[in-house]
Amino acid sequence: MSRRTFIAASAVGGATAVAGPSLLDAQPAAAAQPAAEPLSSRVSLKVNGTRHTVSVDNRTSLLDLLREHFGLVGTKKGCDAGACGACTVLVDGRRVNGCLTLAVRLEGAEVTTIEGLARGENLHPLQQAFIDQDAFQCGFCTPGQIMSGIGCVRERHTGSAEEIREWMSGNICRCGCYVKIVRAVQQAAGGK
Ligand code: FES
Ligand code: FES
Repeated sequence: MSRRTFIAASAVGGATAVAGPSLLDAQPAAAAQPAAEPLSSRVSLKVNGTRHTVSVDNRTSLLDLLREHFGLVGTKKGCDAGACGACTVLVDGRRVNGCLTLAVRLEGAEVTTIEGLARGENLHPLQQAFIDQDAFQCGFCTPGQIMSGIGCVRERHTGSAEEIREWMSGNICRCGCYVKIVRAVQQAAGGK
């Protein structure tokens, strides 16, 4: 057999193998699949003092619950990945990133957003401080900065500008208002 006829014969053999019965045909029937997990759950939580009971997709973040189910769009979606702080809200008094928090894990929780701070015409002291200190430009990061600043004050991480900067470092401001944001937190903490 010449090299040419060998290659030709191999090709025919290969074609035959492809055209013949496949290995898959010889497999036993696939095992029955386990029952699918439920895709949604009910969760009951308080948002800004109002109780809500909703059925949500298990993958829904607190950020999407607030914005898309409750229309509370003051909480902003920046990176949606835990890197910018724009989505910061308080859960049971502690600051969290809404984009990293699963809504279904908040059964019984109390959530506070930027919309829940003012009392009628009276702004929260940190909201007022942001105005007094001119601590924003475009304002996109501001709700998250304010909610995080409230946490910073409550946690008493306001002993110095450096300490505030450290404990507010998870909140990014693309407009670069950091100096005035620190001053606003100092004002709300009573240090200025
Ligand atoms: Fe949540 Fe950026 S949107 S950290
Ligand atoms: Fe524009 Fe902070 S004020 S991103």
